[in-house]
Amino acid sequence: MTIFTSLPEMQQLAERIRQQGKRIGVVPTMGALHAGHLSLIQHAQEKTDIVITTIFVNPKQFGPTEDFEKYPRDIDRDVKMIEECGCDIVFIPKKGEMYPEQFATFVGTESYENILEGKSRPSHFRGVTTVVAKLLHITKPHVAVFGQKDAQQVFIVRKMVRDLNFDVQIITAPIIRESDGLAMSSRNVYLSSEERKEACVLFQSLQRAEKLITEGERVSSNIIFSMKNLVEEKPNARLDYISIADWSTLEEMETIRAGKEILISLAVRFGNTRLIDNTVVNV
Ligand code: PAJ
Repeated sequence: MTIFTSLPEMQQLAERIRQQGKRIGVVPTMGALHAGHLSLIQHAQEKTDIVITTIFVNPKQFGPTEDFEKYPRDIDRDVKMIEECGCDIVFIPKKGEMYPEQFATFVGTESYENILEGKSRPSHFRGVTTVVAKLLHITKPHVAVFGQKDAQQVFIVRKMVRDLNFDVQIITAPIIRESDGLAMSSRNVYLSSEERKEACVLFQSLQRAEKLITEGERVSSNIIFSMKNLVEEKPNARLDYISIADWSTLEEMETIRAGKEILISLAVRFGNTRLIDNTVVNV
């Protein structure tokens, strides 16, 4: 496995791989890897010849009061995990090279970046689309893999790729969970043991919503009320939001209509740790 930190060297190698007629897959990450990230690498390996995993804690997607400084970082462990997966290349760019002092250009997806997660994290998605656009230009992939865990993120990346004619296929990989249902996340390490036990309530509330829909409930506020009650049973949980939206548009729905894929998503805080989860239901 080869490690690159230089942008031009990574870009030149990607170009050479393309000229050899090989297909490139990329898996963008912020490191602190877990089995969810590794599953994305496997998806990329199934679809392409050479897989590049990127590790970059992107300052532009963290708000001023968020956890950029204390975001978990362990490059040696990450590199070892990626190598054990049989990944070919790791790209670990430096902050100063990604964002030199004169940096001034941003990519945004207007009406999609200030809804749902964007309401709580105003500049987050603009930071994500900007860094993903840069990483795609540097690694020149045929395929890029993102997790369903960050549903709005993959929605917005797909939108950017379509709207700006990026020549890359976006693949969405399913959410990998712990045995009690908690979605794996680099931020789970922040949880105290008590909070960790309570954190499976995100998954449980999504399961409750799925059950209600299967039983015929179609009024979103009733489903949200029931999920909220479950979350509020946990003493350390503070609900940020629950949303029921059309997965094809991200528009929130008061009534669930047949023939739609419905995205049910929520964010819950435990102390300073903010966890998200979601499920897509076919109605
Ligand atoms: P990060 O949080 O490190 O996640 C990297 C990728 O792993 C994302 O596509 C995310 O959806 C996926 N992922 C995280 N947890 C997962 C899980 N439990 N199951 C499956 N996939 C999971 O998302 C980012 O980094 C950044 O925003 C990034 C796209 C790298 C841009 O900076």
